[in-house]
Amino acid sequence: MPVDVAAVVIANHPLSADYNVLALSAPAIAEAAAPGQFVMIKAGRGHDPLLRRPFSVFEVLRDERGTPTGISLLNKRIGTSTGLVYDASPGQRVDCLGPLGRPFSVIEPPSEAWMVAGGVGLAPFAALAESLRRRRVQSVLFYGARSGSELFYLETFRGLGVELVLTTDDGSLGERGRVVAPLERRLAKRPAGEPLMIYACGPEGMLAATAKTAARYGRSCQVSVERIMGCGLGGCYSCVVPMRNEDGRPHHVRSCLAGPVLAADQIVWD
Ligand SMILES: Cc1cc2nc3c(=O)[nH]c(=O)nc-3n(C[C@H](O)[C@H](O)[C@H](O)COP(=O)(O)OP(=O)(O)OC[C@H]3O[C@@H](n4cnc5c(N)ncnc54)[C@H](O)[C@@H]3O)c2cc1C
Ligand code: FES
Repeated sequence: MPVDVAAVVIANHPLSADYNVLALSAPAIAEAAAPGQFVMIKAGRGHDPLLRRPFSVFEVLRDERGTPTGISLLNKRIGTSTGLVYDASPGQRVDCLGPLGRPFSVIEPPSEAWMVAGGVGLAPFAALAESLRRRRVQSVLFYGARSGSELFYLETFRGLGVELVLTTDDGSLGERGRVVAPLERRLAKRPAGEPLMIYACGPEGMLAATAKTAARYGRSCQVSVERIMGCGLGGCYSCVVPMRNEDGRPHHVRSCLAGPVLAADQIVWD
């Protein structure tokens, strides 16, 4: 069951001029959250913006005994709400409703997990990487950004035993180019009998390319889609995604309820 709390800001860590990580005290949400779920956030008191905005649960924060105490958000400033999240101060309260939506389905060994992240699409993967490590699943993160200064939390992922494959548009860190290129090369080399799950989150074009590449190699793929969400609760239909049934018939789902994590091979990509 989602809960609605006025969460106290514990800390705000700026990562760059546009990115920050906001830590919120929210024990009930932290305890219930599964990797890939999201919260609806309102950081300002006024009417602009009127509606909350969706954010993935980045990390589940714990005390020294391991008890969940809160969550953090990886935020990229693109407009009013994300600007308020960027500027939030410790001690301030932020309206936080969650956890919401369907999480990733977390695999077991001997299957490997390959996570594919573009930019702020890294957000759901810290929590997923932790779950995978608890299950001793071998994991790789293919992570692309515009430049090396926008590739964050690399040591955290390494510390969770995740192998990193990095790409940047400008070639300043890792391979120059799109993140799907090394994914495709690695898929081509992997024997069909070795099980694998691909998880992806990022811009729509990257998700579509990942989904098509996974399908070409006959691999399962779960994508976390980013639609504009007005309510997060199924009431406004702002978040619909075109899908196809197993028999090929088209239909639409509300990604706040049926997603944000959806089976890549059932989405109708343009
Ligand atoms: C399930 C889910 C999880 C998300 N998790 C994160 C996260 O962890 N961290 C994070 O920084 N962002 C995340 N987002 C995106 C975030 O919700 C949007 O960036 C935010 O709603 C923008 O609000 P704003 O008021 O700052 O910008 P606005 O002023 O509302 O919009 C600024 C511009 O961005 C466009 N825009 C707004 N929302 C989206 C969107 N979802 N996709 C594409 N364009 C958009 C608008 O059309 C407008 O042009 C997530 C979105 C979804 C659906
Ligand atoms: S966000 Fe309102 S129905 Fe999905």
